Amino acid sequence: MNRVLIVEDEPDVGRGILLVLEAEGIRAETVGSAEEALVRIQHSAFDVLVTDYKLGRMDGIELLKRVKVAWPSTRIVVITAFGTIEKAVEAMSHGATRYLTKPFQAAELVSTVQEALEETTLAHQLEELRERLAQEAGYGDIITRDRQMLEVLAAVEKIAPTVAPVLIEGETGTGKELLARLLHRRSPRAHNEFIAINTSALPESLLEAELFGYSKGAFTGASSDKKGYLLAAEKGTILLDEVCSMPLPFQAKLLRVLEQMEVTPLGTTQPVKADFRVICASNRSLSDLVSEEKFRADLFYRLSVVRLKLPPLRERPGDIPLLAEHFVMRCAELYPMPAKVIDPASHKLLATYSWPGNVRELWNVIQHAFLLTEGETISPSDIILHRVPLPASLDVPFFFDLPYEKAREQVMSTFQREYLSRLIQNSRGNLSEVGRRSGLTRTAVYKIIKKLGLEVS
Ligand SMILES: Nc1ncnc2c1ncn2[C@@H]1O[C@H](COP(=O)(O)OP(=O)(O)OP(=O)(O)O)[C@@H](O)[C@H]1O
Ligand SMILES: [Mg+2]
Repeated sequence: MNRVLIVEDEPDVGRGILLVLEAEGIRAETVGSAEEALVRIQHSAFDVLVTDYKLGRMDGIELLKRVKVAWPSTRIVVITAFGTIEKAVEAMSHGATRYLTKPFQAAELVSTVQEALEETTLAHQLEELRERLAQEAGYGDIITRDRQMLEVLAAVEKIAPTVAPVLIEGETGTGKELLARLLHRRSPRAHNEFIAINTSALPESLLEAELFGYSKGAFTGASSDKKGYLLAAEKGTILLDEVCSMPLPFQAKLLRVLEQMEVTPLGTTQPVKADFRVICASNRSLSDLVSEEKFRADLFYRLSVVRLKLPPLRERPGDIPLLAEHFVMRCAELYPMPAKVIDPASHKLLATYSWPGNVRELWNVIQHAFLLTEGETISPSDIILHRVPLPASLDVPFFFDLPYEKAREQVMSTFQREYLSRLIQNSRGNLSEVGRRSGLTRTAVYKIIKKLGLEVS
Protein backbone atom coordinates (compact mmCIF):
# COMPACT_ATOMS: atom_id res chain seq x y z
CA MET A 1 0.00 0.00 0.00
CA ASN A 2 1.27 3.44 -0.90
CA ARG A 3 1.11 5.82 1.97
CA VAL A 4 0.84 9.52 1.16
CA LEU A 5 -0.20 11.28 -2.03
CA ILE A 6 0.59 14.99 -2.18
CA VAL A 7 -1.55 17.10 -4.51
CA GLU A 8 0.09 20.48 -5.08
CA ASP A 9 0.08 22.58 -8.23
CA GLU A 10 3.21 24.49 -7.25
CA PRO A 11 6.01 22.03 -7.96
CA ASP A 12 8.42 23.55 -5.43
CA VAL A 13 5.95 23.33 -2.59
CA GLY A 14 5.04 19.76 -3.55
CA ARG A 15 8.68 18.72 -3.66
CA GLY A 16 9.31 20.44 -0.32
CA ILE A 17 6.54 18.48 1.39
CA LEU A 18 7.77 15.27 -0.20
CA LEU A 19 11.31 15.79 1.10
CA VAL A 20 10.15 16.54 4.62
CA LEU A 21 7.97 13.41 4.74
CA GLU A 22 10.60 11.18 3.18
CA ALA A 23 13.16 12.41 5.70
CA GLU A 24 10.84 10.93 8.35
CA GLY A 25 10.70 7.62 6.51
CA ILE A 26 7.15 8.20 5.23
CA ARG A 27 6.56 6.95 1.71
CA ALA A 28 5.06 9.67 -0.47
CA GLU A 29 4.45 10.79 -4.05
CA THR A 30 3.40 14.07 -5.60
CA VAL A 31 1.04 14.98 -8.41
CA GLY A 32 0.27 18.44 -9.78
CA SER A 33 -3.53 18.44 -10.09
CA ALA A 34 -6.73 16.97 -8.71
CA GLU A 35 -7.37 15.20 -11.99
CA GLU A 36 -3.98 13.49 -11.86
CA ALA A 37 -4.64 12.55 -8.27
CA LEU A 38 -7.90 10.82 -9.18
CA VAL A 39 -6.22 8.84 -11.90
CA ARG A 40 -3.27 7.92 -9.68
CA ILE A 41 -5.54 6.79 -6.86
CA GLN A 42 -7.44 4.52 -9.25
CA HIS A 43 -4.31 2.50 -9.76
CA SER A 44 -3.15 2.23 -6.21
CA ALA A 45 -4.69 3.13 -2.93
CA PHE A 46 -3.21 5.76 -0.62
CA ASP A 47 -3.63 6.03 3.12
CA VAL A 48 -3.44 9.78 3.28
CA LEU A 49 -4.01 12.49 0.74
CA VAL A 50 -2.39 15.86 1.41
CA THR A 51 -3.97 18.41 -0.88
CA ASP A 52 -3.75 22.10 -1.38
CA TYR A 53 -7.10 23.85 -1.14
CA LYS A 54 -6.40 25.95 -4.19
CA LEU A 55 -5.58 23.89 -7.26
CA GLY A 56 -6.14 24.39 -10.98
CA ARG A 57 -9.45 23.47 -12.56
CA MET A 58 -10.75 21.19 -9.85
CA ASP A 59 -10.11 22.47 -6.36
CA GLY A 60 -9.14 20.61 -3.20
CA ILE A 61 -12.70 20.46 -1.86
CA GLU A 62 -14.04 18.92 -5.05
CA LEU A 63 -11.22 16.37 -4.95
CA LEU A 64 -11.95 15.69 -1.31
CA LYS A 65 -15.62 14.99 -2.00
CA ARG A 66 -14.82 12.55 -4.76
CA VAL A 67 -12.19 10.70 -2.82
CA LYS A 68 -14.52 10.43 0.18
CA VAL A 69 -17.18 8.69 -1.85
CA ALA A 70 -14.98 6.25 -3.70
CA TRP A 71 -12.29 5.58 -1.10
CA PRO A 72 -13.92 6.34 2.22
CA SER A 73 -11.01 5.03 4.26
CA THR A 74 -8.49 7.50 2.83
CA ARG A 75 -7.63 10.26 5.31
CA ILE A 76 -7.38 13.75 3.87
CA VAL A 77 -5.30 16.69 5.01
CA VAL A 78 -6.18 20.01 3.38
CA ILE A 79 -3.70 22.86 3.18
CA THR A 80 -5.24 26.33 3.19
CA ALA A 81 -3.68 29.74 2.85
CA PHE A 82 -2.99 31.94 5.84
CA GLY A 83 -6.08 33.75 7.10
CA THR A 84 -8.64 31.53 5.35
CA ILE A 85 -9.87 29.61 8.34
CA GLU A 86 -13.39 29.39 6.89
CA LYS A 87 -11.95 27.34 4.01
CA ALA A 88 -10.45 24.95 6.52
CA VAL A 89 -13.81 24.65 8.27
CA GLU A 90 -15.50 23.97 4.97
CA ALA A 91 -12.94 21.26 4.23
CA MET A 92 -13.55 19.61 7.60
CA SER A 93 -17.29 19.66 7.02
CA HIS A 94 -16.73 17.71 3.82
CA GLY A 95 -14.80 15.03 5.60
CA ALA A 96 -11.20 16.26 5.73
CA THR A 97 -9.46 14.73 8.72
CA ARG A 98 -7.10 17.62 9.38
CA TYR A 99 -5.95 20.90 7.96
CA LEU A 100 -2.72 22.82 7.79
CA THR A 101 -2.47 26.57 7.33
CA LYS A 102 0.30 28.02 5.24
CA PRO A 103 3.00 28.72 6.17
CA PHE A 104 3.57 25.69 8.36
CA GLN A 105 6.60 24.22 10.07
CA ALA A 106 8.09 20.93 8.93
CA ALA A 107 7.39 19.44 12.38
CA GLU A 108 3.73 20.47 12.17
CA LEU A 109 3.41 18.82 8.78
CA VAL A 110 5.03 15.61 9.98
CA SER A 111 2.91 15.27 13.10
CA THR A 112 -0.33 15.99 11.23
CA VAL A 113 0.45 13.42 8.57
CA GLN A 114 1.59 10.89 11.14
CA GLU A 115 -1.65 11.20 13.10
CA ALA A 116 -3.64 10.69 9.95
CA LEU A 117 -1.54 7.66 9.08
CA GLU A 118 -2.07 6.12 12.51
CA GLU A 119 -5.81 6.44 12.12
CA THR A 120 -5.71 4.44 8.94
CA THR A 121 -3.53 1.67 10.31
CA LEU A 122 -6.24 -0.04 12.31
CA ALA A 123 -8.76 0.33 9.50
CA HIS A 124 -6.27 -1.27 7.14
CA GLN A 125 -5.48 -4.14 9.42
CA LEU A 126 -9.15 -4.97 9.56
CA GLU A 127 -9.54 -4.62 5.85
CA GLU A 128 -6.51 -6.79 5.12
CA LEU A 129 -7.82 -9.44 7.43
CA ARG A 130 -11.16 -9.36 5.66
CA GLU A 131 -9.51 -9.51 2.26
CA ARG A 132 -7.34 -12.41 3.29
CA LEU A 133 -10.30 -14.30 4.63
CA ALA A 134 -12.22 -13.64 1.45
CA GLN A 135 -9.29 -14.82 -0.65
CA GLU A 136 -8.76 -17.91 1.41
CA ALA A 137 -12.42 -18.60 1.11
CA GLY A 138 -12.01 -18.12 -2.66
CA TYR A 139 -14.97 -15.77 -3.08
CA GLY A 140 -12.88 -14.34 -5.88
CA ASP A 141 -15.17 -12.35 -8.07
CA ILE A 142 -18.15 -12.00 -5.74
CA ILE A 143 -18.06 -8.46 -4.48
CA THR A 144 -20.18 -7.59 -1.48
CA ARG A 145 -20.19 -6.14 1.97
CA ASP A 146 -23.83 -6.85 2.62
CA ARG A 147 -24.58 -8.82 5.76
CA GLN A 148 -27.17 -11.07 4.15
CA MET A 149 -24.85 -11.81 1.21
CA LEU A 150 -21.98 -12.59 3.56
CA GLU A 151 -24.23 -15.03 5.37
CA VAL A 152 -24.98 -16.75 2.08
CA LEU A 153 -21.25 -16.96 1.35
CA ALA A 154 -20.61 -18.45 4.77
CA ALA A 155 -23.31 -21.03 4.10
CA VAL A 156 -21.63 -21.89 0.81
CA GLU A 157 -18.42 -22.67 2.69
CA LYS A 158 -20.27 -25.05 4.95
CA ILE A 159 -22.16 -26.96 2.32
CA ALA A 160 -19.53 -27.01 -0.43
CA PRO A 161 -17.90 -30.25 0.79
CA THR A 162 -21.23 -32.13 0.78
CA VAL A 163 -23.25 -33.48 -2.14
CA ALA A 164 -26.50 -31.96 -0.90
CA PRO A 165 -28.62 -30.46 -3.67
CA VAL A 166 -28.77 -26.69 -3.44
CA LEU A 167 -31.51 -24.35 -4.55
CA ILE A 168 -30.47 -20.75 -5.25
CA GLU A 169 -33.30 -18.28 -5.47
CA GLY A 170 -33.06 -14.63 -6.43
CA GLU A 171 -34.27 -12.11 -8.97
CA THR A 172 -32.64 -11.95 -12.36
CA GLY A 173 -29.06 -10.69 -12.28
CA THR A 174 -28.49 -11.13 -8.56
CA GLY A 175 -25.56 -13.51 -9.08
CA LYS A 176 -27.12 -16.97 -8.90
CA GLU A 177 -24.85 -18.46 -11.51
CA LEU A 178 -21.81 -16.77 -10.02
CA LEU A 179 -22.69 -18.31 -6.67
CA ALA A 180 -23.24 -21.74 -8.19
CA ARG A 181 -19.78 -21.58 -9.76
CA LEU A 182 -18.28 -20.57 -6.45
CA LEU A 183 -19.98 -23.48 -4.74
CA HIS A 184 -18.49 -25.83 -7.32
CA ARG A 185 -15.01 -24.29 -7.00
CA ARG A 186 -15.09 -24.67 -3.25
CA SER A 187 -16.18 -28.30 -3.40
CA PRO A 188 -14.09 -31.47 -3.76
CA ARG A 189 -15.59 -31.67 -7.27
CA ALA A 190 -13.78 -28.50 -8.34
CA HIS A 191 -11.42 -30.26 -10.75
CA ASN A 192 -14.29 -31.92 -12.60
CA GLU A 193 -16.90 -30.38 -14.90
CA PHE A 194 -19.29 -27.60 -14.01
CA ILE A 195 -22.12 -27.60 -16.55
CA ALA A 196 -24.86 -24.97 -16.62
CA ILE A 197 -28.08 -25.68 -18.48
CA ASN A 198 -30.77 -23.11 -18.98
CA THR A 199 -33.81 -25.32 -18.72
CA SER A 200 -36.20 -22.59 -19.87
CA ALA A 201 -34.47 -22.20 -23.22
CA LEU A 202 -35.33 -25.71 -24.39
CA PRO A 203 -38.58 -27.38 -25.36
CA GLU A 204 -39.36 -30.49 -23.35
CA SER A 205 -38.23 -33.09 -25.88
CA LEU A 206 -34.93 -31.36 -26.41
CA LEU A 207 -34.42 -30.92 -22.68
CA GLU A 208 -34.72 -34.65 -22.21
CA ALA A 209 -32.37 -35.42 -25.08
CA GLU A 210 -29.77 -32.93 -23.88
CA LEU A 211 -29.85 -33.90 -20.22
CA PHE A 212 -30.23 -37.67 -20.48
CA GLY A 213 -28.44 -38.17 -23.79
CA TYR A 214 -29.50 -40.55 -26.54
CA SER A 215 -28.35 -43.38 -28.72
CA LYS A 216 -28.08 -43.22 -32.48
CA GLY A 217 -31.52 -43.51 -34.10
CA ALA A 218 -33.44 -42.82 -30.86
CA PHE A 219 -35.44 -40.22 -32.76
CA THR A 220 -35.35 -38.55 -36.17
CA GLY A 221 -32.20 -36.49 -36.30
CA ALA A 222 -30.28 -38.56 -33.74
CA SER A 223 -27.51 -39.39 -36.16
CA SER A 224 -25.04 -40.54 -33.53
CA ASP A 225 -24.86 -41.39 -29.83
CA LYS A 226 -24.78 -38.38 -27.58
CA LYS A 227 -23.83 -38.26 -23.97
CA GLY A 228 -26.29 -36.23 -21.92
CA TYR A 229 -25.21 -33.38 -19.66
CA LEU A 230 -26.05 -35.30 -16.51
CA LEU A 231 -23.50 -37.96 -17.42
CA ALA A 232 -21.05 -35.43 -18.82
CA ALA A 233 -21.02 -33.80 -15.39
CA GLU A 234 -19.69 -37.04 -13.86
CA LYS A 235 -18.09 -36.33 -10.47
CA GLY A 236 -18.78 -32.66 -11.16
CA THR A 237 -21.66 -30.25 -10.73
CA ILE A 238 -24.67 -29.50 -12.88
CA LEU A 239 -26.54 -26.22 -12.64
CA LEU A 240 -30.15 -26.42 -13.74
CA ASP A 241 -30.89 -22.78 -14.39
CA GLU A 242 -34.42 -21.36 -14.41
CA VAL A 243 -35.85 -24.61 -13.05
CA CYS A 244 -39.07 -22.73 -12.39
CA SER A 245 -40.06 -23.14 -16.02
CA MET A 246 -39.39 -26.86 -16.31
CA PRO A 247 -42.44 -28.63 -17.79
CA LEU A 248 -44.31 -30.85 -15.32
CA PRO A 249 -43.86 -34.16 -17.16
CA PHE A 250 -40.14 -33.54 -17.31
CA GLN A 251 -40.11 -32.80 -13.59
CA ALA A 252 -41.35 -36.34 -12.94
CA LYS A 253 -38.52 -37.79 -15.01
CA LEU A 254 -35.93 -35.67 -13.32
CA LEU A 255 -37.22 -36.69 -9.91
CA ARG A 256 -36.76 -40.35 -10.81
CA VAL A 257 -33.20 -39.72 -11.96
CA LEU A 258 -32.37 -37.90 -8.74
CA GLU A 259 -33.91 -40.60 -6.55
CA GLN A 260 -31.93 -43.36 -8.17
CA MET A 261 -28.95 -41.41 -9.39
CA GLU A 262 -29.29 -43.33 -12.61
CA VAL A 263 -29.77 -42.00 -16.11
CA THR A 264 -31.34 -43.88 -18.98
CA PRO A 265 -30.34 -42.28 -22.30
CA LEU A 266 -33.17 -42.04 -24.83
CA GLY A 267 -33.35 -45.05 -27.09
CA THR A 268 -31.67 -47.32 -24.54
CA THR A 269 -33.03 -49.49 -21.77
CA GLN A 270 -29.92 -49.76 -19.66
CA PRO A 271 -29.75 -47.23 -16.80
CA VAL A 272 -26.30 -45.79 -16.18
CA LYS A 273 -25.09 -44.95 -12.66
CA ALA A 274 -24.42 -41.25 -12.32
CA ASP A 275 -22.55 -39.10 -9.84
CA PHE A 276 -23.27 -35.41 -10.15
CA ARG A 277 -24.15 -32.71 -7.72
CA VAL A 278 -27.21 -30.73 -8.65
CA ILE A 279 -27.64 -27.03 -8.08
CA CYS A 280 -30.83 -25.33 -9.20
CA ALA A 281 -31.42 -21.67 -9.77
CA SER A 282 -34.74 -19.93 -9.99
CA ASN A 283 -35.81 -16.34 -10.26
CA ARG A 284 -39.24 -17.12 -8.89
CA SER A 285 -40.00 -18.57 -5.50
CA LEU A 286 -40.29 -22.31 -6.07
CA SER A 287 -42.49 -22.80 -3.05
CA ASP A 288 -44.96 -20.32 -4.56
CA LEU A 289 -44.95 -22.38 -7.73
CA VAL A 290 -45.59 -25.48 -5.69
CA SER A 291 -48.68 -23.90 -4.19
CA GLU A 292 -49.78 -22.85 -7.67
CA GLU A 293 -49.28 -26.50 -8.70
CA LYS A 294 -46.78 -25.55 -11.36
CA PHE A 295 -43.95 -27.33 -9.64
CA ARG A 296 -44.01 -30.79 -8.09
CA ALA A 297 -43.82 -30.69 -4.33
CA ASP A 298 -41.75 -33.90 -4.14
CA LEU A 299 -39.18 -32.56 -6.59
CA PHE A 300 -39.10 -29.26 -4.73
CA TYR A 301 -38.23 -31.04 -1.47
CA ARG A 302 -35.53 -33.05 -3.15
CA LEU A 303 -33.94 -30.04 -4.80
CA SER A 304 -34.14 -27.69 -1.86
CA VAL A 305 -32.21 -29.60 0.78
CA VAL A 306 -30.24 -26.39 1.08
CA ARG A 307 -31.96 -23.18 0.07
CA LEU A 308 -30.01 -19.99 -0.52
CA LYS A 309 -31.67 -16.67 -1.22
CA LEU A 310 -29.83 -13.82 -2.92
CA PRO A 311 -31.27 -10.43 -1.99
CA PRO A 312 -32.05 -7.99 -4.83
CA LEU A 313 -29.54 -5.16 -5.28
CA ARG A 314 -32.00 -2.51 -4.04
CA GLU A 315 -32.06 -4.28 -0.68
CA ARG A 316 -28.29 -4.05 -0.32
CA PRO A 317 -27.62 -0.36 -1.02
CA GLY A 318 -24.07 -0.60 0.37
CA ASP A 319 -23.12 -2.89 -2.50
CA ILE A 320 -24.09 -0.37 -5.20
CA PRO A 321 -21.07 2.00 -4.88
CA LEU A 322 -18.80 -0.95 -4.15
CA LEU A 323 -19.84 -2.82 -7.28
CA ALA A 324 -19.85 0.36 -9.38
CA GLU A 325 -16.23 1.08 -8.42
CA HIS A 326 -15.29 -2.54 -9.03
CA PHE A 327 -16.93 -2.45 -12.45
CA VAL A 328 -15.17 0.76 -13.61
CA MET A 329 -11.90 -0.86 -12.68
CA ARG A 330 -12.88 -3.98 -14.59
CA CYS A 331 -13.74 -1.78 -17.60
CA ALA A 332 -10.30 -0.16 -17.44
CA GLU A 333 -8.78 -3.63 -17.66
CA LEU A 334 -11.14 -4.76 -20.37
CA TYR A 335 -11.11 -1.79 -22.72
CA PRO A 336 -8.00 -0.06 -24.04
CA MET A 337 -8.97 3.28 -22.55
CA PRO A 338 -7.67 5.41 -19.70
CA ALA A 339 -9.01 4.83 -16.19
CA LYS A 340 -12.09 6.78 -15.18
CA VAL A 341 -13.70 7.84 -11.94
CA ILE A 342 -17.34 8.02 -10.96
CA ASP A 343 -18.18 11.44 -9.53
CA PRO A 344 -20.20 11.79 -6.30
CA ALA A 345 -23.34 13.00 -8.08
CA SER A 346 -23.31 9.85 -10.20
CA HIS A 347 -22.94 7.69 -7.13
CA LYS A 348 -26.00 9.43 -5.74
CA LEU A 349 -27.92 8.77 -8.92
CA LEU A 350 -26.96 5.08 -8.88
CA ALA A 351 -28.04 4.85 -5.25
CA THR A 352 -31.54 6.12 -5.94
CA TYR A 353 -32.35 3.73 -8.78
CA SER A 354 -34.29 0.52 -8.15
CA TRP A 355 -32.17 -1.85 -10.31
CA PRO A 356 -34.81 -4.26 -11.62
CA GLY A 357 -32.04 -6.08 -13.51
CA ASN A 358 -29.86 -6.11 -10.39
CA VAL A 359 -26.09 -6.55 -10.64
CA ARG A 360 -26.19 -7.44 -14.34
CA GLU A 361 -27.97 -4.16 -15.06
CA LEU A 362 -25.45 -2.21 -13.00
CA TRP A 363 -22.62 -3.86 -14.94
CA ASN A 364 -24.28 -2.89 -18.24
CA VAL A 365 -24.89 0.69 -17.10
CA ILE A 366 -21.29 1.13 -15.97
CA GLN A 367 -19.91 -0.33 -19.19
CA HIS A 368 -22.05 2.03 -21.25
CA ALA A 369 -21.04 5.00 -19.11
CA PHE A 370 -17.38 4.04 -19.32
CA LEU A 371 -17.44 3.69 -23.08
CA LEU A 372 -19.49 6.83 -23.73
CA THR A 373 -17.67 9.21 -21.39
CA GLU A 374 -15.15 11.37 -23.18
CA GLY A 375 -13.28 12.64 -20.15
CA GLU A 376 -11.90 10.95 -17.10
CA THR A 377 -14.98 11.49 -14.99
CA ILE A 378 -18.26 9.65 -15.23
CA SER A 379 -20.96 12.19 -14.45
CA PRO A 380 -24.75 11.77 -14.17
CA SER A 381 -25.32 12.66 -17.82
CA ASP A 382 -23.24 9.61 -18.82
CA ILE A 383 -25.44 7.29 -16.83
CA ILE A 384 -28.41 5.94 -18.68
CA LEU A 385 -30.86 4.19 -16.43
CA HIS A 386 -34.12 2.40 -17.16
CA ARG A 387 -32.47 0.43 -19.89
CA VAL A 388 -34.09 -2.93 -20.24
CA PRO A 389 -31.66 -5.52 -18.90
CA LEU A 390 -30.26 -7.95 -21.42
CA PRO A 391 -31.68 -11.43 -21.18
CA ALA A 392 -29.26 -13.84 -19.56
CA SER A 393 -29.56 -16.12 -22.58
CA LEU A 394 -26.94 -14.14 -24.47
CA ASP A 395 -24.21 -14.58 -21.95
CA VAL A 396 -24.51 -18.32 -21.51
CA PRO A 397 -22.24 -20.36 -23.76
CA PHE A 398 -25.07 -22.84 -24.01
CA PHE A 399 -26.76 -20.38 -26.34
CA PHE A 400 -24.65 -21.79 -29.15
CA ASP A 401 -26.09 -25.22 -28.55
CA LEU A 402 -29.58 -23.96 -29.28
CA PRO A 403 -31.28 -24.89 -32.52
CA TYR A 404 -30.73 -22.19 -35.15
CA GLU A 405 -34.30 -20.87 -35.17
CA LYS A 406 -34.47 -20.61 -31.42
CA ALA A 407 -31.12 -18.84 -31.21
CA ARG A 408 -32.12 -16.43 -33.97
CA GLU A 409 -35.36 -15.65 -32.19
CA GLN A 410 -33.46 -14.84 -29.01
CA VAL A 411 -31.00 -12.57 -30.76
CA MET A 412 -33.84 -10.84 -32.60
CA SER A 413 -35.82 -10.12 -29.50
CA THR A 414 -32.72 -8.86 -27.69
CA PHE A 415 -31.96 -6.58 -30.60
CA GLN A 416 -35.54 -5.30 -30.77
CA ARG A 417 -35.60 -4.71 -27.08
CA GLU A 418 -32.29 -2.83 -27.01
CA TYR A 419 -33.01 -0.84 -30.14
CA LEU A 420 -36.53 0.19 -29.27
CA SER A 421 -36.05 0.87 -25.60
CA ARG A 422 -33.17 3.20 -26.43
CA LEU A 423 -35.20 4.92 -29.15
CA ILE A 424 -38.21 5.27 -26.87
CA GLN A 425 -36.00 6.82 -24.26
CA ASN A 426 -34.43 9.22 -26.73
CA SER A 427 -37.87 10.19 -28.03
CA ARG A 428 -39.12 10.67 -24.48
CA GLY A 429 -41.84 8.08 -24.99
CA ASN A 430 -43.34 9.76 -28.06
CA LEU A 431 -44.30 6.82 -30.26
CA SER A 432 -44.88 8.89 -33.40
CA GLU A 433 -41.33 10.11 -33.09
CA VAL A 434 -40.11 6.57 -32.53
CA GLY A 435 -41.91 5.65 -35.74
CA ARG A 436 -40.38 8.53 -37.65
CA ARG A 437 -36.85 7.85 -36.46
CA SER A 438 -37.01 4.11 -36.99
CA GLY A 439 -38.87 4.21 -40.28
CA LEU A 440 -41.41 1.75 -38.90
CA THR A 441 -45.13 2.49 -38.88
CA ARG A 442 -46.61 3.49 -35.57
CA THR A 443 -48.63 0.25 -35.55
CA ALA A 444 -45.53 -1.84 -36.12
CA VAL A 445 -43.76 -0.07 -33.28
CA TYR A 446 -46.74 -0.62 -31.05
CA LYS A 447 -46.87 -4.30 -31.91
CA ILE A 448 -43.24 -4.90 -30.98
CA ILE A 449 -43.62 -2.92 -27.78
CA LYS A 450 -46.56 -5.05 -26.81
CA LYS A 451 -44.84 -8.29 -27.71
CA LEU A 452 -41.79 -7.46 -25.63
CA GLY A 453 -43.74 -5.85 -22.81
CA LEU A 454 -41.59 -2.71 -23.00
CA GLU A 455 -42.48 0.20 -20.82
CA VAL A 456 -43.28 3.54 -22.37
CA SER A 457 -43.01 6.35 -19.89
N1 LIG B 1 -21.66 -9.83 -6.13
C1 LIG B 1 -21.21 -9.71 -7.38
N2 LIG B 1 -19.98 -9.25 -7.62
C2 LIG B 1 -19.51 -9.10 -8.87
N3 LIG B 1 -20.21 -9.40 -9.96
C3 LIG B 1 -21.46 -9.86 -9.81
C4 LIG B 1 -22.02 -10.06 -8.51
N4 LIG B 1 -23.27 -10.54 -8.66
C5 LIG B 1 -23.48 -10.64 -9.98
N5 LIG B 1 -22.40 -10.25 -10.69
C6 LIG B 1 -22.29 -10.18 -12.17
O1 LIG B 1 -23.59 -9.84 -12.66
C7 LIG B 1 -23.92 -10.61 -13.81
C8 LIG B 1 -25.15 -11.46 -13.55
O2 LIG B 1 -24.85 -12.50 -12.61
P1 LIG B 1 -25.46 -13.99 -12.78
O3 LIG B 1 -25.42 -14.40 -14.21
O4 LIG B 1 -24.80 -14.87 -11.81
O5 LIG B 1 -26.96 -13.67 -12.34
P2 LIG B 1 -28.22 -14.65 -12.27
O6 LIG B 1 -28.82 -14.46 -10.94
O7 LIG B 1 -27.83 -16.01 -12.69
O8 LIG B 1 -29.18 -13.97 -13.34
P3 LIG B 1 -30.37 -14.66 -14.23
O9 LIG B 1 -31.47 -15.01 -13.29
O10 LIG B 1 -30.80 -13.52 -15.13
O11 LIG B 1 -29.76 -15.80 -14.93
C9 LIG B 1 -22.68 -11.42 -14.14
O12 LIG B 1 -21.91 -10.68 -15.06
C10 LIG B 1 -21.96 -11.52 -12.81
O13 LIG B 1 -20.58 -11.69 -12.98
MG1 LIG C 1 -28.39 -17.09 -14.37
